[in-house]
Amino acid sequence: VTIPLRVEEMAHGGDGLGRHDGLAVFVPGAMPGDLVRVEITEERPRFARGRVIELLDPSPDRIEPPCPHLADGCGGCPWQAAGHPAQLRWKQRTVRSQLAHLGDIHDAEVRPIDPASPAFGYRNRMDLRVSGGRPALAAARSHDLVELDLCLLPVEPLQRVIRRLDGLAGLRRLTLRAGVASGETVAIVDGDPPADASDRWGIPVRAPAAARIHEEVAGVRFRIGGRAFFQVSTPGAGRLVHHVDLALAGAEGVLLDGYAGVGLFAATVGRRFGAVTAVESDRRAVDDLGHNTDGRVTVVGRRLEEAVAGLGRFEAAVVDPPRAGLGPGVPECLAAAGVRWLAMVSCDPATFARDARRLVTAGFVLEWVQPLDLFPQTYHVEIVARFTRAGAVGA
Ligand SMILES: C[S@@+](CC[C@H](N)C(=O)[O-])C[C@H]1O[C@@H](n2cnc3c(N)ncnc32)[C@H](O)[C@@H]1O
Repeated sequence: VTIPLRVEEMAHGGDGLGRHDGLAVFVPGAMPGDLVRVEITEERPRFARGRVIELLDPSPDRIEPPCPHLADGCGGCPWQAAGHPAQLRWKQRTVRSQLAHLGDIHDAEVRPIDPASPAFGYRNRMDLRVSGGRPALAAARSHDLVELDLCLLPVEPLQRVIRRLDGLAGLRRLTLRAGVASGETVAIVDGDPPADASDRWGIPVRAPAAARIHEEVAGVRFRIGGRAFFQVSTPGAGRLVHHVDLALAGAEGVLLDGYAGVGLFAATVGRRFGAVTAVESDRRAVDDLGHNTDGRVTVVGRRLEEAVAGLGRFEAAVVDPPRAGLGPGVPECLAAAGVRWLAMVSCDPATFARDARRLVTAGFVLEWVQPLDLFPQTYHVEIVARFTRAGAVGA
């Protein structure tokens, strides 16, 4: 069956969404404003999925995609057929609608999105796949691989390396990292690279245990080892620190940095607190966290949901969990520990909305939400939110 469909909005997850006879139809690759002929590929009671057969009338937001690999099906930057201003509008809307639908929060202040990263050339890290001995990325919505001649997402030094990569057949995994401030680059490999790989590729080549770079954010130098987590956009990391600082305005006492990574918030925002406890479960990141912070920061190398109840009292907290969101019991434990000021950082508007509901149930008030575009050309949107809680000791 094919139908004409006017796409009305961008759904969370990056599909165009239109309505046909009252039924919501999700269409990958379509965008708001498009009139498309769609073949229905899946029909459920409450929604359907379709595939674009023909673009009948293109959205005014369409542009010529700058990278040839979009046409090959590369899933790296599915939104590059849309102008950056349109991407920002769609992300802003997604944050508001997920909060309403999944969090049942309708009246929160959602601030205008911060275009925190440049449109291209922003990633300081690329996790590449290997296909036919060449660098590749996963195709959109499939397990296929798309071989890359070039990629516009990473910072320029890594773009140069990607154009030179070859002879990868012996590798199981390949990660490229760069320190924007330090100028350092490293290729982290599992498996057997070609003998002269460093010269051929123009980058130091290391096993994970021996790989290390440095980056600078908000005047602090960070050591980052192996594949330990660090924000993939360096300018975006600076904007995150800025908004977390705002989210903790007026806060004092002891700060908990849950999910601390290598210390991005503990070492920056933490400077104005008398003491900081930083919790992080990845052993590699814990080493760097200790190195990147001074004596005011107590490092706890455990899972937050297991450790938090035994860590004493905190007046302030910043929590930046992985995509799955806050661990079991964490909202209640934060309230019980005495947290009055809470900055929550999230990389997924759906899990953020559910976590926000859990925090409200635990006694917190959501004061504002700040979306950030850390990942242009993708549907991913980052969030910083300020919560407060009255009634704790000293309130
Ligand atoms: C989204 S990153 C944020 C790191 C840091 N805030 C930053 O911005 O660089 C989440 C971090 O939480 C860590 N992590 C994952 N699950 C955890 C858990 N259950 N308890 C504590 N840390 C965890 C990961 O290793 C990762 O470093």
